[in-house]
Amino acid sequence: MNRAMCPGTFDPVTNGHLDVIERASMLFGEVVVAVALSPDKGGGPLFGVEERVAFIEEAVSGLSNVTVQPFDGLLVECAQEIDAKVIIKGLRAVTDFEREFQMAQLNYRLDKTVETMFIMSIPEYAYLSSSAVKEIARHGGSVKGLVPDAVCEALAARLHQAR
Ligand code: PNS
Repeated sequence: MNRAMCPGTFDPVTNGHLDVIERASMLFGEVVVAVALSPDKGGGPLFGVEERVAFIEEAVSGLSNVTVQPFDGLLVECAQEIDAKVIIKGLRAVTDFEREFQMAQLNYRLDKTVETMFIMSIPEYAYLSSSAVKEIARHGGSVKGLVPDAVCEALAARLHQAR
């Protein structure tokens, strides 16, 4: 099976992530979206891993070859477990490159049979990130069109609670 994985923290998933996932689903027989627990990233995720998985599951429900699952530990070990030979990452502006290059090199060192491939962001989403979405929402700005509607609502509810 021609299986790829799209890993990330997805806190929360953005329309930029979803564009990459959809384009990967057209290139590979099966795509597994792997949602990292990432408990330490940026002071801890805003959304629990089950919530992050649920947002993506709802958003990709129309893509029959895409599944979503949480993962903890090393990415290459998750790739081995699900028998994915390709890791797909999105690349936005050139600022992503250094971090992605480092991760790709380290993953290659850990397992040479797993290839990392990049899908370039479309210009509309080139400057979109989960952190920017949270910052806008935290200050009461609209993130409609940047994330799925369910995520818009969850952000408002979560950040309103936090105030
Ligand atoms: O959404 P992100 O921050 O781009 O996702 C990064 C992620 C989760 C893919 C990365 O942090 C990761 O692979 N974490 C698992 C730990 C691991 O395998 N580290 C070694 C490669 S640097």
